[in-house]
Amino acid sequence: MTDLAALQATLREAGQAHLCARLEGLAPPRRKLLARALEAIDYELVSELADLARTGSTPAVKTATPDLEPPALVPLRKEGRVAQDAERATEHGRGLLASGKVGYVLVAGGQGSRLGLDGPKGKFRVGPISGLSLFAYHARRLRKASDGGRVSVPWYIMTSPANDAETRAFFEDHGHFGLVPEDVFFFPQAMLPALDPDGRILLAAEDTPFLAPNGHGGLLTGLRSSGALDDMRARGLEHLSYFQVDNPLVRPADPLFLGLHARAEAGMSSKVVAKRDAGEKVGVIGRIDGKLGCIEYSDLSDELRHAKDDRGELRFRAGNIAVHALSVDFLDDVTRGNLRLPWHVAKKAMKVVDENGRQVERTGYKFETFVFDALALSEESVTLEVERAHEFSPVKNASGEDSPETARRDLLTLHAGWLAAAGADLPAADAFGLHPVEVDPLFAETGEEFAQRMPATPVIRDEGHHYDAP
Ligand code: UD1
Repeated sequence: MTDLAALQATLREAGQAHLCARLEGLAPPRRKLLARALEAIDYELVSELADLARTGSTPAVKTATPDLEPPALVPLRKEGRVAQDAERATEHGRGLLASGKVGYVLVAGGQGSRLGLDGPKGKFRVGPISGLSLFAYHARRLRKASDGGRVSVPWYIMTSPANDAETRAFFEDHGHFGLVPEDVFFFPQAMLPALDPDGRILLAAEDTPFLAPNGHGGLLTGLRSSGALDDMRARGLEHLSYFQVDNPLVRPADPLFLGLHARAEAGMSSKVVAKRDAGEKVGVIGRIDGKLGCIEYSDLSDELRHAKDDRGELRFRAGNIAVHALSVDFLDDVTRGNLRLPWHVAKKAMKVVDENGRQVERTGYKFETFVFDALALSEESVTLEVERAHEFSPVKNASGEDSPETARRDLLTLHAGWLAAAGADLPAADAFGLHPVEVDPLFAETGEEFAQRMPATPVIRDEGHHYDAP
């Protein structure tokens, strides 16, 4: 039961007195709704965020010229000792995967608004021929890692309150894509109030505060508070493979990456690709003022963006593909106390309700933390460079770069390359020079694996019908 007087006292003390008037102006049922929502807010945190809104700044924004150094990379082309180490790491990684020491973590709290999609982005049918959804692609890769069900592949999926029910329903409707339902663990990320430039909580409706997801950095505390960390411990997991929903080429069960990370006793590690060009809109992994981290494209000055090394390559080319490995001990350590990741503040025009109950557009601030800022807390870390064509083609925009069209093109190109290398006949290329073949992720994860398994190839050829297996 809401103690209205106590709530109003808290609001006044927190500099949110405008909400007292709002509560008083509402009829009892709606007042109750608003009071319940306001009671759930952490006002100590809101005071901290209000300071950021009032100054219009954020500690996370890097100065124009940070002390930025490229990271130490495990390079794409491995020779000599590096190649030997990589072989040993792959063996180690295979052992971890086969003995069920690896859990999988997907961040899927976003809404796919840039893509113009209504609902969870993971529902997007990315398979060029199969029509498989992003969720189905990922699930089939995990099923592959389960080695026919011999290894359990626990999957922790962070949704948001806006898409949680729809995500769960999609998995239910598709029989969890053949995964063991008890191994798929959903939890919605936490939300934070949006504030106006005076640090006051905005309202989305008369009886509803304007809440926004707290960023994928919220994953770390979310894994603890949701009980996922306890579940990981109970299952004896040692490492987590982290990925984003938007990349159909991601390899969550990569023995090399997991092996390198584990052998280095790293807390958190990353995969990167060489940036296509200075203008590519990806974050860059590097040492920022001495600490490992990721600097967002928009925070990188023109000068640093275009800087070249002595071989004439972009100096800051370690493009973040948002694939990480985390040790379960690291997750436990960093979330044990009060995890403080820097705030990233976004200033946006927001549709809100004003003091007179009218729908208006106002400038507001949203607050997020980013998971890659936890790299700074990891004493050891591996940064592995991988081939873009094999591992990164995200679906972000409705058209142009990083769109459904480019992701489908990259899937077709990769898979046709596997077939060609394995000596298979390719169906004729279409008008764009693309051979319409797609390899089921359940069958092979890499070209080498495809070649080994080739005799029993269940290649999906486009024969004019698109089967219904999203
Ligand atoms: C992200 C990275 C960027 C990287 C690129 C690679 C950030 C800030 N930047 O950019 O460095 O080069 O991916 O593709 O992440 N999500 C949540 N909850 C949230 C916010 C996001 O779960 O509150 C999830 C989304 O569902 C998505 C992922 O995090 O899976 C990425 O979020 P998004 O904001 O789309 O980042 P990008 O701009 O794609």
